Amino acid sequence: MIMNYTSHDSLATSCIQRILGIVGHQYLGRRPEFSTFAILSAVACDSPTPPLQEQVASMEKWLVLLCLLLPAPVTPDELDLPAAVFGLCLGTGGYYIWKRITTEERHKEPGEVDIPALQEDLEKRVFGQHLAKSITIRGLSDFLKNENSKKALAMSFHGPTGTGKNFISQIIAQHLYPEGMNSKYVHQFVSTLHFPHVQHFDMYKVQLQQWIRGNVTASKRSIFIFDEVDKMHPGLIDAIKPYLDYYEHIEGVDYRKAIFIFLSNMGADLLSQLAVDFWKAGKLREDIKLSDVENQLSLSAFNNTNDGFWHSSLIEQNLIDFYVPFLPLEQQHVRMCIRREIMDRGLIIDEELVSQVANDMTEYPEDEHVFSLKGCKAVSTKLRYYLLHVNDGTPDRP
Ligand SMILES: Nc1ncnc2c1ncn2[C@@H]1O[C@H](COP(=O)(O)OP(=O)(O)OP(=O)(O)O)[C@@H](O)[C@H]1O
Ligand SMILES: [Mg+2]
Repeated sequence: MIMNYTSHDSLATSCIQRILGIVGHQYLGRRPEFSTFAILSAVACDSPTPPLQEQVASMEKWLVLLCLLLPAPVTPDELDLPAAVFGLCLGTGGYYIWKRITTEERHKEPGEVDIPALQEDLEKRVFGQHLAKSITIRGLSDFLKNENSKKALAMSFHGPTGTGKNFISQIIAQHLYPEGMNSKYVHQFVSTLHFPHVQHFDMYKVQLQQWIRGNVTASKRSIFIFDEVDKMHPGLIDAIKPYLDYYEHIEGVDYRKAIFIFLSNMGADLLSQLAVDFWKAGKLREDIKLSDVENQLSLSAFNNTNDGFWHSSLIEQNLIDFYVPFLPLEQQHVRMCIRREIMDRGLIIDEELVSQVANDMTEYPEDEHVFSLKGCKAVSTKLRYYLLHVNDGTPDRP
């Protein structure tokens, strides 16, 4: 869910709650529990803060059940239209909320996350990122298994464009929450979209802190993904620093179960150079070790004065738990992306088509053409183009 507090409160909820509220008020005096219910419903509808919404919603469930268990509000000879409407509304509201109780998205508790399944999924779906996969799994499994984590988990994904940074975050979200990126526990911030104007920095800072606080209060195991963090005002990252630190709680809120993922292209040049050097030396890319990149990566982020991270106290104070490097993808990986994209469209893989799309990618070093400049990023668009235009507009070709 992208910066949206109220998307899970549908129009239907509001309508039912409001109707119940009005009808409930008609019985004010005669049935005080209905007026309480009406007031709570209205508060839940209009509350701007998620914690209050959640609290009211949970009280509401019990009140509705209580109402349903109480004797009917009228005797048979009093039965008239308002009473019938009342019954209908209460029945509908009760049913709706009962459904919500039983189907409400539930985030998995730490032990419930199936780490082997996550690992298998990463192995199957993510190509050419042996370091990113293993570090992510290590970081997440240690964190999720530890019921007494001392701080929130903070991972920083670095690397060139189109190499899978967003892709892996999406897979993580899918394994932690059934609704993945649409989950109400997953919050994505894109610097250029959500914090575009430097002059509004102070306002963004306050808003950001409120978002984090509100969401962690609603669910401790919230995920926050900060995209394009290299384009973010350095001070904004510093603003979330307290939530990543070793505090038991801040103003009564415990942030130590939350997960923060920072995505950026920082260190991309360094990682590309490293991959090229390994390739030129005839070594396998799988032999690139974390130690080959880790120190340089944090240093490069720290020293680059154009990057949001550069003087951030997150790095200074070691609040980032894992630096996760993404290597530039080779042509063989891009071909794998193309094949998967073809299969996802329900088509049969045609190696000629795969070559056409792959050859349309820009590669480097200039003479050797080994690494894809944009990774797998343009695969989907280019494949669509070839399917629609180059091959006589026959999108269902084999
Ligand atoms: N390593 C990979 N393995 C499999 N598919 C990949 C990989 N990298 C990228 N892709 C595919 O390319 C798409 C774009 O990748 P993604 O958005 O994750 O790139 P990114 O690293 O976040 O790039 P940017 O730095 O430009 O934001 C993904 O949705 C996925 O389909
Ligand atoms: Mg991205």
